[in-house]
Amino acid sequence: MAPREIWLEVGFGGGEHAQALAAQNPDMGLIAAEVFETGICSLLSRLAPDGDDDAAPPANLRLFTDDARLLIRELPDGGLGKLFLMFPDPWPKARHAKRRFVHPAILPEIARVLAPGGEWRIASDDPTYQDWTDEVLAGQDLFMPRSRVLMRPEGWPPTRYEAKAIAAGRQPVYWSLARI
Ligand SMILES: C[S@@+](CC[C@H](N)C(=O)[O-])C[C@H]1O[C@@H](n2cnc3c(N)ncnc32)[C@H](O)[C@@H]1O
Repeated sequence: MAPREIWLEVGFGGGEHAQALAAQNPDMGLIAAEVFETGICSLLSRLAPDGDDDAAPPANLRLFTDDARLLIRELPDGGLGKLFLMFPDPWPKARHAKRRFVHPAILPEIARVLAPGGEWRIASDDPTYQDWTDEVLAGQDLFMPRSRVLMRPEGWPPTRYEAKAIAAGRQPVYWSLARI
């Protein structure tokens, strides 16, 4: 059965969020992208545990084991229904700002691949990245901010990084944007 929409998660880390999303939304196709080998192995070892010959990875989940920006460049216009960016690497030093995934330069690319009305979810626990995200979003007209909250919204699976951030006393912010 063809998926109703294609969704993309950028930087899935250990993959808990991607695995939960795929399980909760069997009619959607999820591409989960990660560059870090340990994270990729962590997700694969849960999808296909050693010795479990009957393990059946979710049919609606695909992994992209490289920089998600390479994939985004190749996606068709309006090809995605949702994009998830959960706790991107913060790159807190000002001289590294150009490495942040949320960046004015990538907004047109994300806008191109998200269908009109499509959702972009972002979460960050880093105060510098939170301010930066607010600033970048305030300076654009491609996405309409729908919500900016301090409690993880219903339907957003938890992530490992989030649990560590909260345990360390950091306050995450969760944004939901709609492609105009
Ligand atoms: C701080 S971790 C958060 C992981 C996960 N989202 C979570 O919340 O537990 C950020 C992850 O994004 C990955 N990453 C960073 N830039 C990426 C990119 N351009 N494409 C794919 N993965 C990326 C990193 O390797 C890292 O595993």
